[in-house]
Amino acid sequence: MKRGEKVVLAVIAVIVLSLMGRNLWHIESDPEADKDKGIPYYSTASKELERDAMDVYHKQNCKGCHSLWTVRNMLESVPAPILDGMGSLHNEEWFFQYFSAANPQAILPSRLKLEFRMPSYAALQEHDRRLLASYMASLKVQDWYLEETRKAEYEKLTGKDYHP
Ligand code: HEC
Repeated sequence: MKRGEKVVLAVIAVIVLSLMGRNLWHIESDPEADKDKGIPYYSTASKELERDAMDVYHKQNCKGCHSLWTVRNMLESVPAPILDGMGSLHNEEWFFQYFSAANPQAILPSRLKLEFRMPSYAALQEHDRRLLASYMASLKVQDWYLEETRKAEYEKLTGKDYHP
């Protein structure tokens, strides 16, 4: 190896090592990071409500498009909003109206092609629509993550950046 090449290699090594060091420093000196606060999502639903509503949820294949408690169908890449924390953004009556609407896009406009949009569940039994509405309303997010949840929803729905 020529002397010039050695110098170049040494310079590269110094740069790489200093970048690595900086990253480590960042990781260690960030105790306020959100990951330390734990999972921001929780539900106020009873065990019975959760079981019955999730039964409808699975039968209707909501997970084909949405994720909830980080479970989703990984083969699908539909950009539907994450449902965790949704009960902090809408109330039970809103969910019931949304699931009962013949045209849900009249309530929440879509930017997607027809086949990826939220389908109408107006034909679903009222009992099941009420179960889903009640369970969705129970899906809360801790205050410290509310803005992030709004941002994620807005960006999914509009495809635009969120500027409150
Ligand atoms: C074909 C894909 C698809 C299926 C299946 C589906 N959704 Fe959706 N859903 C969407 C999309 C996409 C949106 C966003 C609005 C739009 O683009 O129509 C949405 C919106 C929603 C919203 C409002 C979210 C927000 O940001 O306010 C809720 C709640 C919801 N869906 C619940 C459900 C439930 C419960 C089921 C099952 C009964 C279900 N969805 C089935 C695609 C789907």
